[in-house]
Amino acid sequence: MNKPVSLRISRIVEEAEGVKTFYFRHHIEASPGQFLMVWLPGVDEKPVGVSYQDEASFAVTVRSVGPWSSRMHALEVGDILGIRGPYGSSFSLEGELIICVAGGYGAAPLAFLAEEAKKRGLEVDFVIGARDESKLLFRERLGSGGVNYLPATDDGSCGHHGFCTELLERRIQERSPDKVFAVGPEKMMKSVVTLCERYGIPVEVSLERYMKCGFGVCGQCCVDDSGFRMCKEGPVLDQEKLKKVKEFGEYRRDAAGNLVRF
Ligand SMILES: Cc1cc2nc3c(=O)[nH]c(=O)nc-3n(C[C@H](O)[C@H](O)[C@H](O)COP(=O)(O)OP(=O)(O)OC[C@H]3O[C@@H](n4cnc5c(N)ncnc54)[C@H](O)[C@@H]3O)c2cc1C
Ligand code: FES
Repeated sequence: MNKPVSLRISRIVEEAEGVKTFYFRHHIEASPGQFLMVWLPGVDEKPVGVSYQDEASFAVTVRSVGPWSSRMHALEVGDILGIRGPYGSSFSLEGELIICVAGGYGAAPLAFLAEEAKKRGLEVDFVIGARDESKLLFRERLGSGGVNYLPATDDGSCGHHGFCTELLERRIQERSPDKVFAVGPEKMMKSVVTLCERYGIPVEVSLERYMKCGFGVCGQCCVDDSGFRMCKEGPVLDQEKLKKVKEFGEYRRDAAGNLVRF
């Protein structure tokens, strides 16, 4: 485990309504898919995926939904946060053409993955679903980095009119990708996995479960029936591991361990 550090926010980018990226001038060695525990003094500590990394800096992208994340959104450049990690499993790049499928802030870890894939010379299709054009994340950042940015919107205001899984199926038929990576609502990831199985394409997803310690000791994030800890054996799981997780796409547990159906 890396030593926790206190870091000042060096830059804040408003990506879309309710979504901000927080940059820090500090070197970490995260692999795409891994997460950090981000402590907001006096409020709480939460797991957040790494959304950007270069030699000198890294970033996390946070959607404002509740007490911790809304307080994050009130922070300014120069404010201090406690960071520990990176933790968890990461995505495995293979082949020449990959497709990332992103829903909501699931675009954050996948943007980091897409940039890493481009550095290694892979071609990347980035299929992203949103309610409308204003909610699409990382369009300029990924487009200018040579990623094929393929939006799907519920209202048809940008790109494919409909579900991102429809767009994914069309791209699979046209391009036969070597691998698919999905992060977003669990029902969406379940559809992506079913689709990839039908076409015989390897797939990896990132499964979010309620986390407390973040490094494998408290047992809070274990999933049925495997007992895999999502902060240690996850959050990134491949098809083989997913087959052992019967709750995938069905239910999760809240902070008190109560079962919550999707
Ligand atoms: C591996 C992983 C990566 C994540 N990456 C991101 C990210 O890149 N961007 C982002 O905005 N959020 C991310 N999250 C979610 C984030 O940790 C918080 O859950 C979220 O910010 C809500 O916290 P809140 O107090 O504002 O809202 P709350 O109202 O407390 O919670 C809103 C939702 O978040 C869930 N949640 C709350 N606390 C936790 C926790 N400790 N662990 C897991 N889920 C929790 C709740 O069950 C609820 O469904 C990630 C979670 C995990 C497990
Ligand atoms: S959060 Fe404690 S074991 Fe995963």
